[in-house]
Order: sequence, then structure tokens, then C-alpha cells
Amino acid sequence: MKITKAVIPAAGLGTRFLPFTKSIPKELVPIMEKPALHLIIEEGLASGIKEFEIIINDDKPAINNYFSPNNHLETLLHAKNKDSLIAGVNNLIHNAHLNYIAQPKPLGLGHAILMAQEKVGDEYFGIFLPDEIMMDTTPALSQLIAKAQQYNCSIVAVQEVPREKVSSYGIVSIKQNLEKNLFEIDKLIEKPSINHAPSTLAIIGRYVLSPTIFASLKNTQAGSGNEIQLTDGITHMMNNGERVLAYNITTHRYDVGNPLDWLKANIAYALSQPLYATEIKHYLSDLQKK
Ligand code: G1P
Repeated sequence: MKITKAVIPAAGLGTRFLPFTKSIPKELVPIMEKPALHLIIEEGLASGIKEFEIIINDDKPAINNYFSPNNHLETLLHAKNKDSLIAGVNNLIHNAHLNYIAQPKPLGLGHAILMAQEKVGDEYFGIFLPDEIMMDTTPALSQLIAKAQQYNCSIVAVQEVPREKVSSYGIVSIKQNLEKNLFEIDKLIEKPSINHAPSTLAIIGRYVLSPTIFASLKNTQAGSGNEIQLTDGITHMMNNGERVLAYNITTHRYDVGNPLDWLKANIAYALSQPLYATEIKHYLSDLQKK
């Protein structure tokens, strides 16, 4: 099984990050000097993904602009001998093939993924939810791809969440433990109430799915929040005999669509960079003394 394509749904409104997201898409919130979506594409490239299907709404030219060459800026930087300042993004533009696909109406995550059917075709593919930044030495998606290839089936990333948070996630119940951190799924339920949640294992923003998900999504009615849910599409696919596993990924995850987690992601990222680490450590310990 070769996995070289990934879908990135980036058509959401970003309401948790208003007013910032009034003019800038939430996928471009900066993690230090890089937009979140830049880090996601880097994770994809490091996981063997070559082609990215970015689902956008018409309001988001900023995403396309960021990943397009800027000749004017390049000429100015070249004259100042500062080409290296945008070498990182230019490298990424060069190595990643990005397609932009419009989602005409915000009908839900499942509907957004369905928009990529034609581009993905008949191959297994990855999904990144771009407001979830994973920091690990082994890229998160590559961990899922390795398990999908080993078991030759679809797989969703999961993590334990506190009980009071289950209603914000898709929750899985487990049929059996296959190996450390890897489970056979019994059921998936999108955003259950605490009382109806079968576990506290939440689906998080990385998936590897069989292309049969597209036929299932076409047969999926609006569910939680009156939207077409990816979780319900996966349930439909399982009911049609597809095997879907859950991998409990131990990577640090930050929901950067939420201002508090976004701040934590920035601190963690800065601490991981030799250029900033020492100064940030001193700064944080000075703040605590005050
Ligand atoms: C989506 C999915 C949900 C998943 C979550 C992870 O929900 O529908 O199953 O657990 O992402 O962040 P959203 O956060 O878009 O409401």
C-alpha cells in the first residue's frame, strides 16, 4: 500500500480564534515564524506525502498566496542577500504539489473530505486536520501510515481526553487490543454526551483511510450538529466490511485553533529550537518569580 496523497480540510470559520480569524484563516496562525499549515505540509512531506488536496472556501485567498512564489519579495530579499529568509517556504512550494478544491457550502467535515474524491481516486490517503499540530521526532502521520501498511487497512489516530471533553470529539469504543496502543474499533460516535460516551478515547486530527470512504460519505446523512460527519462515514464503511483500527498516538498534540493551546504550542516549539530555548526558559522562570 503506497500513500502519497493527503486531504487537508481548511474551510472552517475559525470562530474560536475571532477576531484574529476575521481576516486571516485559522490555518495560518503562526507557530513562531511559520503558519500552522506550513508545519502540517512539512509533516506530510516527512511522511512521504507528495500531493495535498486543500479544501478551502472562497474566502481564503491568503492560503493560496502563502504557498505561491512571490517574485517581488524574492527580488527585494535577493538584493539584500537575504534569500535564506524565505528559502524554507520556497523549498516546500517546490516539493509539495498542492491542489485547492472549493467546498461550496460548510456542510461538515465528511462533506469537505468528499470534495477530494476525484483528486484522490482509488488510493488509500491521509487526512490532516490542520488546527492540530503534533510535535514528535517521528512525524505523526508516518506513524499511522506504518500501521496502515502493516495491517493493510484504514486507521484513525486517537488519544485519551478528560471525561468532560468527550462531547467535543468523535469517540471510539474498542473491540480488542491488537498490540501496544493499537486497537480494533467496535463503534465510533461523534460528539456523545458524557453519559453516552463508550470510552474516553477521542479521534484526533490524523487519519489514513481507504478510498471506499467516499462511497460511504455519499450515503451518510447529516448527523451531529446537522453536518455530514466523517465519523459517521467511517461507521458506514465499517458496516460494509472495511476494517478500521485506532492507534493511540503518544505525540504531543496542540489544538492551535484555540488561543490557549496555540500559546502553549508556541512555547513548546520555541523550547525545541536551540536558537530560542535558553532565553525562553529564563524568561518563563523570571515571570514565575514575579
Ligand atoms: C472533528 C471530528 C471529530 C474529531 C475532532 C478532532 O471535530 O468530527 O470526530 O474528534 O475533529 O479534533 P471538530 O473539531 O471539527 O468539531
